[in-house]
This record gives sequence, structure tokens and C-alpha cells, in this order.
Amino acid sequence: MILVTGATGQIGSKVVQNLLKMGVPVRAFVRDEKTFDDFEDSSLEVVTGTFEDTQSIERAVEGVDQLFLAARDNPNQVAQHENVIKVAERCGVKHAVKLSAFGSSKNSPIALMRWHAETEGQLRNSKLSWTFLRPFLFMQNLLRSGKSVATRDTFSAPMGSDKFALVDIRDIAEVAAKVLKDGNHSSKVYTLTGPSAVSYYEAAEYLSSILKRSIKYKPVSQEEFYQKLLSEGTPSWRAHDLAYIVQAYPDDKKNLVTNDINLLLNRSARSIQTFLSDYQTNYQGEN
Ligand SMILES: NC(=O)c1ccc[n+]([C@@H]2O[C@H](COP(=O)([O-])OP(=O)(O)OC[C@H]3O[C@@H](n4cnc5c(N)ncnc54)[C@H](OP(=O)(O)O)[C@@H]3O)[C@@H](O)[C@H]2O)c1
Repeated sequence: MILVTGATGQIGSKVVQNLLKMGVPVRAFVRDEKTFDDFEDSSLEVVTGTFEDTQSIERAVEGVDQLFLAARDNPNQVAQHENVIKVAERCGVKHAVKLSAFGSSKNSPIALMRWHAETEGQLRNSKLSWTFLRPFLFMQNLLRSGKSVATRDTFSAPMGSDKFALVDIRDIAEVAAKVLKDGNHSSKVYTLTGPSAVSYYEAAEYLSSILKRSIKYKPVSQEEFYQKLLSEGTPSWRAHDLAYIVQAYPDDKKNLVTNDINLLLNRSARSIQTFLSDYQTNYQGEN
């Protein structure tokens, strides 16, 4: 049995679906008991609980061999995942596949990168074997600009003119399901990127060609973006991480492209053009 935490999340929900498609029994750990009510698949079990409630984690890991460890970035996530790791160790779980991030480092100026590094360290020091998935920035982050593109034909981000090999979360979820199903990726760190590095200016050009109207990317400074997020009520740690995220990547690594998705899935990673085309309705009309 495989336990998927963060099973309602962008990636976790797709990991659940991919495993079920592969015929692998899954237990989903969810906070809202109604989450999978409409889901008819006898290979899916649902356990309700939270990372704070160790008794619910005990129920979730009973009879589990492997787990997928995912969360929403937050200042308590190291303690939350420590709870899962400790209970998993005690209850005989053998392997954890952790959704981490490229840039994970204890010395990062970005808080979420330090939290990922801490949890990776806890797993390395635990009785569990582990696999770390370290994706680069998600293509799906671009969907946050859907409304701006739809209404003003522009989008802003603090990404300057650098090129980044953004990765599609659909590929990350396929990799996670494959690694869990294979069960032989212990002590591996996979860095997951798109097939090529593109600037946000180029993304705007691709979007213009798909939508058949001119879309402009307007870079903003990190400080300007930070202040805008604060004014919208974003917590300061989150506003800082989102605005200054580029600082998590050394200059010579910003445009890194890896082959890990090709090697694991035996096909190319989805391109930014494919992503924008598949999600084009998000840029048309109110979102
Ligand atoms: N965005 C990027 O560009 C990027 C790049 C690389 C790595 N990452 C990493 O990807 C991860 C986010 O993945 P995602 O987008 O799939 O996340 P997401 O959509 O925000 O989902 C988070 C999941 O965690 C669950 N959760 C939150 N708090 C919980 C708690 N206290 N107890 C139990 N479950 C809880 C949520 O459940 P509910 O539905 O109940 O809230 C949800 O299922 C982060 O670790 C981030 O650092 C992101």
C-alpha cells in the first residue's frame, strides 16, 4: 500500500490518479473527509487527518510500505513532516518519496528552500530509505496571471529577462507515481526541469501566438512585487519567498536543463508551448 499525503494538492491529486491508472492501490491522506466522495475506485482508500494529529498519521500509515510526502509551504512544515517521518519509522514504513524543490539548501535566502533541506536531512537520518524529487519552478505558476492576461493582455513577474526551464506539474506527478510504483529509486535525487530554458518574454510570445493577440510580459522589481503581495494580505514570509525566489538559484544554475524526466518517463518533458496551449482557456475570460 502507498500513502499519498497532500492528496488534494496540485501534485498529490495527480499522483493519486496516476497510481490508480497504473493499478496500484493507494491510500489518500486528506483533511476534508468528503474529498474523494465522488471517486469510484475500489483501489482507493481515504484516511482523514492532519500533519499535526499524530494519531491520524498512525491510522494512515498502517500497512503502508511507501509514502509520498508533500505539503503546502508554511512555517510549520518541518515540524509537520517530522511528525509523519517519526510515525512512519515507528510503524515500519520503508520508503518515502519527498516532493522537495530544486534550490533546497540550509543556507538558502528563501525560507521554503531551507525547510525542504531540513526535511531532506531528517529523512536521510531516519530509518526510512528515500527519494527526493526536486522540481524547478512550476509552469502552472504562470496561471496566477490568467486574469491579468485575460483582462489587460499583460502579466508581471519579478523574473527579469533570465531564462528558466519551468516544469509542468503533470510531469512531476507522473515521475512521482513511476518512482513509487518501481520501488527501486532509493537514495536518488531527481532534479526535474522542462526541456529548455525560456524567458518570460518568450513565454509571452508563445502565448500571443496561441491566443492570436499580443500579450506582453512586464518585468517588475523583486521589491515592487514583494510590496504588492504584502498590500494584498500575503504573509510576509510568503511574499518574500515569491518575490525573491530567483535568489534561490545561483547564476550558473538558473537556466539548468536536466534529463531526469526523459530517463524516468522515457519521453521528453512537456514544453512551455504545450503547457500554454493545454491551459489556454485560463487566459481567456474571467478566471
Ligand atoms: N510552485 C513551484 O514553482 C514549486 C517548485 C518546486 C517545488 N515546489 C514545492 O511543491 C510543494 C507544493 O506542492 P503542490 O502545489 O502540489 O501543493 P498544494 O496544491 O498547495 O497542496 C498542498 C497539500 O498539502 C495539504 N496540507 C496542507 N496542510 C496540511 C496539514 N496541516 N495536514 C495535512 N495536509 C495538509 C493540502 O490539503 P488541503 O487541500 O486540505 O489544504 C494539500 O493537499 C511545496 O512543497 C513547494 O515548495 C513548488
